[in-house]
Amino acid sequence: MARIAVLTVSDRGAAGEREDLGGPLIAELAAAAGHAVAARAIVPDELEQIAGQLRAWADGGVADVVITTGGTGLTPRDVTPEATRSVAEREVPGIAVALVANGLQYTPFAALTRGVAVTRGRTLIVNLPGNPKAVREGMEVLLPLLNHAAELLAGPVEHGPGAG
Ligand code: MTE
Repeated sequence: MARIAVLTVSDRGAAGEREDLGGPLIAELAAAAGHAVAARAIVPDELEQIAGQLRAWADGGVADVVITTGGTGLTPRDVTPEATRSVAEREVPGIAVALVANGLQYTPFAALTRGVAVTRGRTLIVNLPGNPKAVREGMEVLLPLLNHAAELLAGPVEHGPGAG
């Protein structure tokens, strides 16, 4: 069981002008797989608001894995990957590769996401696209990884030879 936090990134969703479908779907699929949904939030496509929420959850030890949905594409308002990189300590490029590779089975448009996966402290942060179909396809890739990723992130800090 991993603790999952879900961040929806959407101008219209945050303004209450459009129902957020991606966030609830991530929470539903994660809970159905036995994970705990520790937090959920929705923010507009603003770099500082996205980064602030990611920092708060990671630094507060709220979740093992934060999954974002939305804002990964090519429109000028899409800044989720930049916000995620701005709080990153380490990149986990294989997750983004796996998400695109899986998505290409369904649509060539899978190549149009710029989503990234990074760690900050003991939290993994993964960007998924916004539409529910892409969320469902992305969760096929993520769900089998979550427990092992959470275990690795929670593990002891290893010091090399000679370290105190
Ligand atoms: N990935 C999967 N697996 N399935 C999809 O349908 N849609 C793509 C892509 N990734 C899609 C996908 C499309 S159409 C876009 S524009 C980008 O994700 C970015 O979506 P976003 O701007 O909602 O983040």
